[in-house]
Amino acid sequence: MKASAGYQIVTLNEFIINRQEEHPEARGDLSRLLHHIGVAAKIVNKKINKAGLVDILGEAGEVNVQGEDVKKLDVFANDHFIAAIQASGEVCAIASEENQEIVTFDDGLSRDGHYVFCMDPLDGSSNIEVNVSVGTIFSIYRRTSPEGERAQVSDFLQTGDHQVAAGYVIYGSSTMMVYTTGNGVDGFTLDPGIGEFCLSHPGIRTPDEGRIYSINEGNYVHFPMGVKQYIKYCQEIDPDTHRPYTSRYIGSLVSDFHRNLLMGGIFIYPQTQSAPKGKLRLIYECNPVAFIAEQAGGAATNGSTRMLEVIPDDLHQRVPLYVGSRKMVDKVKAFLHQYP
Ligand code: AHG
Ligand code: MN
Ligand code: MN
Repeated sequence: MKASAGYQIVTLNEFIINRQEEHPEARGDLSRLLHHIGVAAKIVNKKINKAGLVDILGEAGEVNVQGEDVKKLDVFANDHFIAAIQASGEVCAIASEENQEIVTFDDGLSRDGHYVFCMDPLDGSSNIEVNVSVGTIFSIYRRTSPEGERAQVSDFLQTGDHQVAAGYVIYGSSTMMVYTTGNGVDGFTLDPGIGEFCLSHPGIRTPDEGRIYSINEGNYVHFPMGVKQYIKYCQEIDPDTHRPYTSRYIGSLVSDFHRNLLMGGIFIYPQTQSAPKGKLRLIYECNPVAFIAEQAGGAATNGSTRMLEVIPDDLHQRVPLYVGSRKMVDKVKAFLHQYP
């Protein structure tokens, strides 16, 4: 039956099923997993919306594996995503920012799961108390250990170009889920009226050339010379290249990345004197956004190597991140090369 005019909503679940039908060989396992991610996102969204009302702000009295304070909402998001992913039965283990070790699932169904799941359950959590957008970042790999056995850390130490899917949820003025399975990038906005993620941004493409640069300039004195020179370049007057550019920095990777993805721009978190390897984590922050950026026509690098080719040696490894519009990433790379 043809839908009547004005009723063209495609929900996340419909979209997932439609995509699966285009691949008759697909077994539906990834579809099930994506569905469960959507469910967890809705639960976490509900909690975040109420954050100012109930006692879920503040510290949970622990520090996470990065030595940072764990907010109660970090714990909530972590627990709910782990539960939802386990319920999918498709994942044998999870690596999370909030867990030092991998979380392995030992029930029969999960041990047979084809996938491992990486996540930053709540990104930008220091922003939650001032009502600024936060997010969840996720990434999915096919396991490398034999099915039926307990998952290993080595299942997670794959280069980013092995990702089967990656995405994020942004809990903002509206809540969105954006993801890729390596076939372009699609965005879904949560309609609170019906409680469904609805396709709102099909086939996202990021502009080749943007006008926004996003970096914590408070750390300027600690930046490598190439980054300092690039910032100067962004601030110079040149009508041909529409400079000076605009500076925007929220302090939530998901939010900064999302804005730049849609509008064109570059996000930089370089190495600094106090963080010689950078701050952001390769496996559950940098690789997922790098995969999405590339799938939208953008680029991502650690300054010298394409992000998706960086070989991980640790679950919580940090790496410098330069991600966004292709020409802007090329430009900063040229500065880094010129001023090593
Ligand atoms: P998280 O809340 O998961 O620890 O991540 C915070 C990250 C990231 O979201 C953001 O881009 C960056 O930290 C901001 O760091 P600075 O405050 O050092 O700029
Ligand atoms: Mn984060
Ligand atoms: Mn986090």
